[in-house]
Amino acid sequence: MRPWQAFSSTEIITRTDEQTRKLGQRLGQSVTGPLTLALTGDLGCGKTTFVKGMARGLGVDKRYPVTSPTFTIINEYPAAGGLRLCHLDLYRLGSVEELTHIGCDDLADTGDAVIAVEWPALLVADRFAFDLELTFAFDADYHRVISFFAYGQIGANMLSRLFP
Ligand SMILES: Nc1ncnc2c1ncn2[C@@H]1O[C@H](COP(=O)(O)OP(=O)(O)OP(=O)(O)O)[C@@H](O)[C@H]1O
Ligand SMILES: [Mg+2]
Repeated sequence: MRPWQAFSSTEIITRTDEQTRKLGQRLGQSVTGPLTLALTGDLGCGKTTFVKGMARGLGVDKRYPVTSPTFTIINEYPAAGGLRLCHLDLYRLGSVEELTHIGCDDLADTGDAVIAVEWPALLVADRFAFDLELTFAFDADYHRVISFFAYGQIGANMLSRLFP
């Protein structure tokens, strides 16, 4: 069960990875400040593909290839407007405390960070406050069903910019 009541939700189906990337790019372009984003869904559902698009929308320079943080746990990229994109994949993380050991204990200090977290369960259990949750699922045709949920005002504002 989700720890917070979702304000609103929207569902989009993407048929190609390019469409998922474009959707991520649109979200990135709609960001106006710090944001926390949980990306949930099975292996290969398109979470990293989405974040690659987000990076472009946030103005991360093309010289930085956006790769999956599966082994590094966190990848960070400078973005436009003084923001930075922190892309986490907690699939291999044993406990929230391990985040401190790898030097990312400032996650709660989101002053300039757009934080996108794949496999966020440990942080959700720790009651980390996400503004948005995106759930990724396969449909019968192997397309991706991407649902957007907003928690709190920042998330709701984001969704109304994204889907006016
Ligand atoms: N509509 C689609 N959206 C996103 N990816 C798609 C789509 N159709 C096919 N793909 C392919 O599915 C794969 C998605 O991989 P991706 O690494 O983004 O998944 P992931 O959810 O991050 O997985 P993991 O949980 O292992 O990190 C890519 O190989 C991509 O090319
Ligand atoms: Mg991934």
